[in-house]
Amino acid sequence: MYDPSQMARFAREAARLADASKFAEQARRAAEAAKHLDASKFAEQARRAAEAAKHLDVSKFAERARRAAEAAKHLDASKFAEQARRAAEAASRVDREQVVAEASRFTEQAQAAIRAAKNLAELERLRIEYLGRSSQLTEVKKLVRELPVEARPEVGGVANRASRDLEDAIKVRAEELAFIEREARLRAEAVDVTLPGVPYPKGSLHPSMRVVDEVVDFFVGLGYRVAEGPEVETDYYNFTALNIPPGHPARTMQDTFFLDEGLVLRTHTSPVQIRTMLSQEPPVYVVCPGRTYRRDSDPTHTPMFNQIEGLAVDRGITLSHLKGTLAAMARHVFGEDVKVRLRPSYFQFTEPSVELDVSCFVCGGSDPKCKVCKGAGWLEMLGAGMVDPAVLEEVGYDPEEYTGFAFGMGPDRMAMAKYGVADLRLFFEGDLRFLRQF
Ligand code: PHE
Repeated sequence: MYDPSQMARFAREAARLADASKFAEQARRAAEAAKHLDASKFAEQARRAAEAAKHLDVSKFAERARRAAEAAKHLDASKFAEQARRAAEAASRVDREQVVAEASRFTEQAQAAIRAAKNLAELERLRIEYLGRSSQLTEVKKLVRELPVEARPEVGGVANRASRDLEDAIKVRAEELAFIEREARLRAEAVDVTLPGVPYPKGSLHPSMRVVDEVVDFFVGLGYRVAEGPEVETDYYNFTALNIPPGHPARTMQDTFFLDEGLVLRTHTSPVQIRTMLSQEPPVYVVCPGRTYRRDSDPTHTPMFNQIEGLAVDRGITLSHLKGTLAAMARHVFGEDVKVRLRPSYFQFTEPSVELDVSCFVCGGSDPKCKVCKGAGWLEMLGAGMVDPAVLEEVGYDPEEYTGFAFGMGPDRMAMAKYGVADLRLFFEGDLRFLRQF
Protein backbone atom coordinates (compact mmCIF):
# COMPACT_ATOMS: atom_id res chain seq x y z
CA MET A 1 0.00 0.00 0.00
CA TYR A 2 2.94 2.32 0.53
CA ASP A 3 4.50 3.45 -2.74
CA PRO A 4 8.16 4.46 -2.31
CA SER A 5 8.14 6.16 -5.71
CA GLN A 6 5.75 8.67 -4.17
CA MET A 7 8.36 9.74 -1.68
CA ALA A 8 10.90 9.99 -4.46
CA ARG A 9 8.50 12.22 -6.29
CA PHE A 10 8.14 14.30 -3.17
CA ALA A 11 11.90 14.70 -3.06
CA ARG A 12 12.04 15.62 -6.71
CA GLU A 13 9.25 18.15 -6.34
CA ALA A 14 11.04 19.69 -3.42
CA ALA A 15 14.17 20.04 -5.45
CA ARG A 16 12.25 21.46 -8.33
CA LEU A 17 10.46 23.91 -6.14
CA ALA A 18 13.74 25.19 -4.83
CA ASP A 19 15.67 25.25 -8.05
CA ALA A 20 12.88 26.58 -10.15
CA SER A 21 12.37 29.51 -7.83
CA LYS A 22 16.09 30.08 -7.75
CA PHE A 23 16.15 30.04 -11.47
CA ALA A 24 13.06 32.20 -11.72
CA GLU A 25 14.75 34.73 -9.50
CA GLN A 26 17.84 34.60 -11.65
CA ALA A 27 15.73 35.00 -14.78
CA ARG A 28 13.80 37.84 -13.23
CA ARG A 29 17.01 39.62 -12.40
CA ALA A 30 18.26 38.88 -15.88
CA ALA A 31 15.07 40.31 -17.37
CA GLU A 32 15.39 43.36 -15.18
CA ALA A 33 18.94 43.80 -16.28
CA ALA A 34 17.92 43.26 -19.90
CA LYS A 35 15.82 46.36 -19.64
CA HIS A 36 18.91 48.39 -18.98
CA LEU A 37 21.74 46.43 -20.52
CA ASP A 38 22.46 45.35 -23.98
CA ALA A 39 20.94 42.07 -25.11
CA SER A 40 24.16 40.18 -25.53
CA LYS A 41 25.15 40.63 -21.91
CA PHE A 42 21.73 39.50 -20.74
CA ALA A 43 21.84 36.56 -23.14
CA GLU A 44 25.02 35.47 -21.46
CA GLN A 45 23.44 35.67 -18.02
CA ALA A 46 20.42 33.71 -19.18
CA ARG A 47 22.70 31.15 -20.76
CA ARG A 48 24.47 30.64 -17.46
CA ALA A 49 21.16 30.27 -15.65
CA ALA A 50 20.08 27.70 -18.22
CA GLU A 51 23.40 25.91 -17.73
CA ALA A 52 22.71 25.70 -14.00
CA ALA A 53 19.20 24.44 -14.64
CA LYS A 54 20.50 21.63 -16.86
CA HIS A 55 21.83 19.79 -13.83
CA LEU A 56 18.51 19.88 -12.10
CA ASP A 57 15.20 18.35 -12.85
CA VAL A 58 13.83 21.40 -14.54
CA SER A 59 15.12 20.61 -18.01
CA LYS A 60 11.92 21.78 -19.54
CA PHE A 61 12.25 25.14 -17.93
CA ALA A 62 15.94 25.21 -18.77
CA GLU A 63 15.07 24.48 -22.36
CA ARG A 64 12.65 27.36 -22.37
CA ALA A 65 15.26 29.66 -20.85
CA ARG A 66 17.83 28.37 -23.29
CA ARG A 67 15.50 29.25 -26.13
CA ALA A 68 14.85 32.63 -24.57
CA ALA A 69 18.57 33.22 -24.35
CA GLU A 70 18.94 32.08 -27.93
CA ALA A 71 16.16 34.40 -28.99
CA ALA A 72 17.74 37.21 -27.02
CA LYS A 73 20.71 36.97 -29.31
CA HIS A 74 18.56 37.85 -32.26
CA LEU A 75 15.77 39.91 -30.76
CA ASP A 76 15.75 43.15 -29.00
CA ALA A 77 16.13 43.22 -25.29
CA SER A 78 12.57 44.21 -24.48
CA LYS A 79 11.11 41.20 -26.25
CA PHE A 80 13.47 38.91 -24.42
CA ALA A 81 12.71 40.60 -21.14
CA GLU A 82 9.08 39.79 -21.70
CA GLN A 83 9.88 36.16 -22.36
CA ALA A 84 12.06 35.98 -19.28
CA ARG A 85 9.35 37.57 -17.22
CA ARG A 86 6.87 34.93 -18.33
CA ALA A 87 9.37 32.19 -17.55
CA ALA A 88 9.86 33.64 -14.09
CA GLU A 89 6.11 33.69 -13.62
CA ALA A 90 5.81 30.06 -14.64
CA ALA A 91 8.57 29.09 -12.25
CA SER A 92 6.87 30.79 -9.36
CA ARG A 93 3.72 28.82 -10.11
CA VAL A 94 5.39 25.57 -9.02
CA ASP A 95 2.85 24.44 -6.54
CA ARG A 96 4.27 24.46 -3.06
CA GLU A 97 1.00 23.22 -1.69
CA GLN A 98 1.20 20.18 -3.88
CA VAL A 99 4.53 19.27 -2.32
CA VAL A 100 3.04 19.53 1.13
CA ALA A 101 0.03 17.49 0.05
CA GLU A 102 2.32 14.78 -1.37
CA ALA A 103 4.20 14.65 1.88
CA SER A 104 1.10 14.32 3.98
CA ARG A 105 -0.30 11.65 1.68
CA PHE A 106 2.92 9.72 2.07
CA THR A 107 2.74 10.15 5.85
CA GLU A 108 -0.85 8.96 5.94
CA GLN A 109 -0.11 5.86 3.93
CA ALA A 110 2.91 5.03 6.06
CA GLN A 111 0.84 5.52 9.19
CA ALA A 112 -1.81 3.17 7.86
CA ALA A 113 0.86 0.53 7.17
CA ILE A 114 2.20 0.98 10.70
CA ARG A 115 -1.27 0.61 12.21
CA ALA A 116 -1.75 -2.59 10.23
CA ALA A 117 1.57 -4.13 11.33
CA LYS A 118 0.76 -7.59 12.62
CA ASN A 119 3.64 -8.03 15.02
CA LEU A 120 6.65 -6.29 16.51
CA ALA A 121 9.00 -7.80 13.94
CA GLU A 122 6.96 -6.40 11.07
CA LEU A 123 6.77 -3.04 12.84
CA GLU A 124 10.55 -2.95 13.14
CA ARG A 125 10.83 -3.67 9.43
CA LEU A 126 8.54 -0.72 8.69
CA ARG A 127 10.50 1.54 11.02
CA ILE A 128 13.69 0.78 9.12
CA GLU A 129 11.91 1.27 5.82
CA TYR A 130 10.37 4.67 6.69
CA LEU A 131 12.84 6.14 9.15
CA GLY A 132 16.01 4.12 8.70
CA ARG A 133 19.28 5.44 7.39
CA SER A 134 18.47 4.59 3.79
CA SER A 135 14.81 5.60 3.90
CA GLN A 136 13.28 8.12 1.50
CA LEU A 137 12.62 10.47 4.35
CA THR A 138 16.25 10.49 5.42
CA GLU A 139 17.24 11.18 1.85
CA VAL A 140 14.85 14.13 1.69
CA LYS A 141 16.32 15.47 4.92
CA LYS A 142 19.80 15.23 3.43
CA LEU A 143 18.54 17.01 0.35
CA VAL A 144 17.23 19.90 2.42
CA ARG A 145 20.79 21.00 3.09
CA GLU A 146 21.34 21.41 -0.60
CA LEU A 147 18.27 23.54 -1.09
CA PRO A 148 18.42 27.34 -1.32
CA VAL A 149 18.09 28.90 2.08
CA GLU A 150 14.59 30.24 1.53
CA ALA A 151 13.25 26.79 0.58
CA ARG A 152 14.84 24.93 3.50
CA PRO A 153 12.37 25.74 6.29
CA GLU A 154 9.36 24.61 4.31
CA VAL A 155 10.79 21.35 2.93
CA GLY A 156 12.69 20.62 6.13
CA GLY A 157 9.55 21.29 8.16
CA VAL A 158 7.54 18.93 6.04
CA ALA A 159 10.15 16.17 6.38
CA ASN A 160 10.55 16.63 10.15
CA ARG A 161 6.82 16.59 10.67
CA ALA A 162 6.56 13.39 8.66
CA SER A 163 9.33 11.82 10.80
CA ARG A 164 7.66 12.83 14.02
CA ASP A 165 4.26 11.59 12.93
CA LEU A 166 5.69 8.24 11.91
CA GLU A 167 7.68 7.86 15.12
CA ASP A 168 4.51 8.55 17.11
CA ALA A 169 2.54 6.06 15.07
CA ILE A 170 5.24 3.41 15.60
CA LYS A 171 5.30 4.01 19.34
CA VAL A 172 1.53 3.67 19.62
CA ARG A 173 1.48 0.52 17.51
CA ALA A 174 4.41 -0.98 19.45
CA GLU A 175 2.46 -0.58 22.68
CA GLU A 176 -0.62 -2.12 21.13
CA LEU A 177 1.33 -5.04 19.73
CA ALA A 178 3.16 -5.64 22.99
CA PHE A 179 -0.20 -5.83 24.71
CA ILE A 180 -1.70 -8.09 22.03
CA GLU A 181 1.31 -10.39 22.04
CA ARG A 182 1.30 -10.64 25.82
CA GLU A 183 -2.41 -11.41 25.83
CA ALA A 184 -1.89 -14.12 23.22
CA ARG A 185 0.97 -15.62 25.20
CA LEU A 186 -1.05 -15.64 28.38
CA ARG A 187 -3.93 -17.27 26.54
CA ALA A 188 -1.62 -19.91 25.05
CA GLU A 189 -0.04 -20.64 28.42
CA ALA A 190 -3.30 -20.76 30.27
CA VAL A 191 -4.07 -23.98 32.10
CA ASP A 192 -7.63 -25.18 31.89
CA VAL A 193 -8.26 -26.13 35.46
CA THR A 194 -11.61 -27.62 34.50
CA LEU A 195 -9.97 -30.39 32.41
CA PRO A 196 -9.96 -33.80 34.04
CA GLY A 197 -6.60 -34.71 35.55
CA VAL A 198 -4.23 -37.33 34.16
CA PRO A 199 -5.25 -40.46 36.02
CA TYR A 200 -2.46 -41.78 38.20
CA PRO A 201 -2.75 -45.53 38.47
CA LYS A 202 -3.14 -46.54 42.05
CA GLY A 203 -1.21 -49.54 43.24
CA SER A 204 -2.23 -51.87 46.00
CA LEU A 205 -0.42 -53.73 48.69
CA HIS A 206 0.79 -57.22 47.91
CA PRO A 207 -1.34 -59.78 49.81
CA SER A 208 1.73 -61.03 51.70
CA MET A 209 2.59 -57.46 52.70
CA ARG A 210 -0.94 -56.93 54.00
CA VAL A 211 -0.43 -59.84 56.39
CA VAL A 212 3.08 -58.62 57.28
CA ASP A 213 1.62 -55.20 58.11
CA GLU A 214 -1.13 -56.70 60.24
CA VAL A 215 1.30 -58.88 62.20
CA VAL A 216 3.91 -56.15 62.61
CA ASP A 217 1.23 -53.64 63.64
CA PHE A 218 0.04 -56.07 66.28
CA PHE A 219 3.49 -56.53 67.79
CA VAL A 220 4.38 -52.85 67.58
CA GLY A 221 1.15 -52.29 69.51
CA LEU A 222 2.53 -54.57 72.24
CA GLY A 223 5.73 -52.54 72.39
CA TYR A 224 7.92 -54.69 70.13
CA ARG A 225 10.56 -53.04 67.95
CA VAL A 226 11.01 -53.90 64.26
CA ALA A 227 14.48 -55.31 63.45
CA GLU A 228 15.95 -56.24 60.10
CA GLY A 229 18.99 -58.12 58.84
CA PRO A 230 20.78 -59.00 55.60
CA GLU A 231 19.40 -61.52 53.13
CA VAL A 232 22.91 -62.70 52.29
CA GLU A 233 23.90 -64.14 55.63
CA THR A 234 26.95 -65.84 57.06
CA ASP A 235 26.88 -69.50 57.89
CA TYR A 236 27.51 -68.50 61.51
CA TYR A 237 24.38 -66.37 61.96
CA ASN A 238 22.16 -68.61 59.85
CA PHE A 239 23.26 -71.88 61.52
CA THR A 240 26.10 -72.08 64.04
CA ALA A 241 24.93 -69.35 66.42
CA LEU A 242 21.46 -70.93 66.32
CA ASN A 243 22.87 -74.11 67.81
CA ILE A 244 23.26 -75.83 64.43
CA PRO A 245 27.00 -76.50 64.31
CA PRO A 246 28.83 -77.47 61.10
CA GLY A 247 28.17 -81.07 60.17
CA HIS A 248 25.03 -81.29 62.31
CA PRO A 249 22.27 -83.25 60.54
CA ALA A 250 19.75 -80.50 61.41
CA ARG A 251 21.34 -78.41 58.65
CA THR A 252 19.82 -80.68 56.04
CA MET A 253 16.32 -79.70 57.19
CA GLN A 254 16.79 -76.44 55.32
CA ASP A 255 17.39 -76.62 51.57
CA THR A 256 20.04 -73.95 51.55
CA PHE A 257 21.35 -71.80 48.69
CA PHE A 258 25.09 -71.74 49.44
CA LEU A 259 27.14 -68.82 48.20
CA ASP A 260 30.92 -68.45 48.19
CA GLU A 261 33.08 -67.88 51.25
CA GLY A 262 30.76 -69.24 53.92
CA LEU A 263 27.84 -67.09 52.83
CA VAL A 264 24.28 -68.33 52.29
CA LEU A 265 20.99 -66.83 51.29
CA ARG A 266 19.35 -66.85 54.70
CA THR A 267 16.99 -69.78 55.03
CA HIS A 268 14.97 -68.12 57.80
CA THR A 269 14.76 -64.82 59.68
CA SER A 270 16.16 -66.40 62.86
CA PRO A 271 19.68 -64.97 62.28
CA VAL A 272 18.13 -61.56 63.04
CA GLN A 273 17.50 -62.90 66.60
CA ILE A 274 21.22 -63.49 66.98
CA ARG A 275 22.20 -60.11 65.49
CA THR A 276 19.70 -58.36 67.77
CA MET A 277 20.82 -60.11 70.95
CA LEU A 278 24.49 -59.53 70.13
CA SER A 279 23.84 -55.83 69.71
CA GLN A 280 21.90 -55.19 72.91
CA GLU A 281 21.29 -56.30 76.46
CA PRO A 282 17.98 -57.87 77.52
CA PRO A 283 15.11 -57.22 77.72
CA VAL A 284 14.53 -57.83 74.01
CA TYR A 285 11.21 -57.52 72.23
CA VAL A 286 11.59 -57.53 68.47
CA VAL A 287 9.64 -58.55 65.42
CA CYS A 288 11.67 -59.19 62.25
CA PRO A 289 9.95 -59.36 58.84
CA GLY A 290 12.00 -60.20 55.75
CA ARG A 291 12.65 -62.29 52.66
CA THR A 292 14.08 -65.80 53.02
CA TYR A 293 15.28 -68.43 50.53
CA ARG A 294 15.17 -72.19 50.13
CA ARG A 295 15.67 -74.57 47.23
CA ASP A 296 12.03 -75.48 46.92
CA SER A 297 9.42 -74.97 44.22
CA ASP A 298 5.92 -76.39 44.08
CA PRO A 299 2.37 -75.04 44.52
CA THR A 300 2.99 -74.34 48.20
CA HIS A 301 6.74 -73.56 48.12
CA THR A 302 8.66 -70.85 46.28
CA PRO A 303 12.47 -70.34 46.35
CA MET A 304 11.89 -66.91 47.86
CA PHE A 305 9.29 -66.43 50.55
CA ASN A 306 8.57 -64.15 53.48
CA GLN A 307 8.98 -64.82 57.16
CA ILE A 308 8.28 -62.91 60.32
CA GLU A 309 10.46 -63.75 63.26
CA GLY A 310 9.58 -62.75 66.79
CA LEU A 311 11.74 -62.76 69.91
CA ALA A 312 11.04 -61.87 73.51
CA VAL A 313 13.81 -62.27 76.12
CA ASP A 314 13.30 -61.01 79.63
CA ARG A 315 13.25 -62.20 83.22
CA GLY A 316 10.53 -64.75 83.88
CA ILE A 317 9.32 -65.39 80.33
CA THR A 318 7.41 -68.68 80.10
CA LEU A 319 5.63 -70.80 77.53
CA SER A 320 2.34 -69.27 78.72
CA HIS A 321 3.54 -65.89 77.52
CA LEU A 322 4.33 -67.48 74.18
CA LYS A 323 0.89 -69.03 73.88
CA GLY A 324 -1.00 -65.99 75.06
CA THR A 325 0.92 -63.63 72.79
CA LEU A 326 0.47 -65.79 69.70
CA ALA A 327 -3.22 -66.45 70.43
CA ALA A 328 -3.83 -62.72 70.59
CA MET A 329 -1.90 -62.27 67.35
CA ALA A 330 -3.97 -65.00 65.61
CA ARG A 331 -7.20 -63.30 66.70
CA HIS A 332 -5.88 -59.99 65.38
CA VAL A 333 -5.12 -61.46 61.95
CA PHE A 334 -7.85 -64.09 61.49
CA GLY A 335 -10.73 -62.92 63.67
CA GLU A 336 -11.87 -62.86 67.27
CA ASP A 337 -13.29 -66.39 67.18
CA VAL A 338 -10.16 -68.34 66.31
CA LYS A 339 -8.53 -70.63 68.85
CA VAL A 340 -4.95 -71.81 68.94
CA ARG A 341 -3.32 -75.05 69.97
CA LEU A 342 0.27 -76.01 70.52
CA ARG A 343 1.77 -79.26 69.22
CA PRO A 344 5.20 -80.52 70.18
CA SER A 345 7.83 -79.98 67.50
CA TYR A 346 11.57 -79.73 67.06
CA PHE A 347 13.90 -76.85 66.34
CA GLN A 348 17.57 -76.84 67.15
CA PHE A 349 17.43 -73.34 68.70
CA THR A 350 14.33 -73.73 70.92
CA GLU A 351 13.61 -76.05 73.81
CA PRO A 352 10.85 -76.99 74.14
CA SER A 353 9.73 -76.43 70.55
CA VAL A 354 6.14 -76.21 69.41
CA GLU A 355 4.02 -75.70 66.39
CA LEU A 356 1.04 -73.41 66.66
CA ASP A 357 -2.19 -74.28 64.86
CA VAL A 358 -5.11 -71.90 64.39
CA SER A 359 -8.69 -73.14 64.28
CA CYS A 360 -10.07 -72.81 60.74
CA PHE A 361 -11.29 -69.25 60.41
CA VAL A 362 -13.63 -70.28 57.60
CA CYS A 363 -15.51 -73.33 58.94
CA GLY A 364 -14.34 -73.42 62.52
CA GLY A 365 -13.88 -77.18 62.09
CA SER A 366 -17.48 -77.87 61.16
CA ASP A 367 -17.08 -78.51 57.42
CA PRO A 368 -15.40 -81.79 56.41
CA LYS A 369 -15.13 -80.45 52.82
CA CYS A 370 -13.76 -77.02 53.79
CA LYS A 371 -11.41 -75.73 51.09
CA VAL A 372 -9.17 -73.90 53.54
CA CYS A 373 -8.56 -76.51 56.26
CA LYS A 374 -9.49 -79.53 54.09
CA GLY A 375 -11.71 -80.78 56.87
CA ALA A 376 -8.93 -80.81 59.46
CA GLY A 377 -10.45 -77.90 61.39
CA TRP A 378 -6.94 -76.58 62.13
CA LEU A 379 -4.36 -74.68 60.14
CA GLU A 380 -0.63 -75.00 60.78
CA MET A 381 0.59 -71.53 61.33
CA LEU A 382 4.04 -71.21 62.80
CA GLY A 383 6.99 -72.74 64.60
CA ALA A 384 8.01 -71.49 68.01
CA GLY A 385 9.57 -72.40 71.32
CA MET A 386 11.51 -71.25 74.33
CA VAL A 387 14.93 -69.95 73.31
CA ASP A 388 17.47 -72.72 73.87
CA PRO A 389 19.86 -71.84 76.75
CA ALA A 390 22.74 -72.70 74.39
CA VAL A 391 21.64 -69.83 72.13
CA LEU A 392 21.38 -67.38 75.03
CA GLU A 393 24.86 -68.39 76.13
CA GLU A 394 26.19 -67.98 72.60
CA VAL A 395 25.13 -64.30 72.59
CA GLY A 396 26.38 -63.70 76.12
CA TYR A 397 23.06 -63.68 77.95
CA ASP A 398 22.87 -65.52 81.27
CA PRO A 399 20.29 -68.35 80.83
CA GLU A 400 19.88 -68.55 84.63
CA GLU A 401 18.64 -64.98 84.69
CA TYR A 402 16.86 -64.66 81.37
CA THR A 403 14.45 -66.80 79.44
CA GLY A 404 12.71 -66.06 76.19
CA PHE A 405 10.47 -67.28 73.46
CA ALA A 406 10.87 -67.11 69.71
CA PHE A 407 8.56 -67.80 66.83
CA GLY A 408 8.70 -67.73 63.05
CA MET A 409 5.76 -67.58 60.69
CA GLY A 410 5.15 -67.47 56.95
CA PRO A 411 2.97 -64.50 55.97
CA ASP A 412 2.66 -65.88 52.40
CA ARG A 413 1.03 -69.06 53.67
CA MET A 414 -1.13 -67.02 56.00
CA ALA A 415 -2.23 -64.84 53.06
CA MET A 416 -3.03 -67.96 50.99
CA ALA A 417 -5.34 -69.15 53.74
CA LYS A 418 -6.81 -65.74 54.43
CA TYR A 419 -7.54 -64.88 50.78
CA GLY A 420 -8.22 -68.42 49.54
CA VAL A 421 -5.34 -68.66 47.06
CA ALA A 422 -4.43 -72.24 46.09
CA ASP A 423 -1.05 -71.64 44.42
CA LEU A 424 1.67 -69.75 46.28
CA ARG A 425 3.57 -69.14 43.03
CA LEU A 426 0.88 -66.64 41.93
CA PHE A 427 2.15 -64.31 44.64
CA PHE A 428 5.51 -63.86 42.95
CA GLU A 429 4.75 -63.94 39.24
CA GLY A 430 3.87 -60.25 39.11
CA ASP A 431 0.65 -60.85 37.15
CA LEU A 432 -1.35 -57.66 37.61
CA ARG A 433 -4.65 -59.45 36.96
CA PHE A 434 -3.95 -61.46 40.10
CA LEU A 435 -2.49 -58.63 42.18
CA ARG A 436 -5.26 -56.14 41.37
CA GLN A 437 -7.71 -58.26 43.31
CA PHE A 438 -6.14 -57.24 46.60
N1 PHE B 1 13.29 -70.44 61.90
C1 PHE B 1 12.33 -71.47 61.92
C2 PHE B 1 12.02 -71.90 60.50
O1 PHE B 1 12.27 -71.17 59.59
C3 PHE B 1 11.04 -71.01 62.57
C4 PHE B 1 11.25 -70.74 64.02
C5 PHE B 1 11.60 -69.49 64.38
C6 PHE B 1 11.07 -71.70 64.98
C7 PHE B 1 11.78 -69.19 65.73
C8 PHE B 1 11.23 -71.48 66.31
C9 PHE B 1 11.62 -70.21 66.69
O2 PHE B 1 11.51 -72.97 60.24
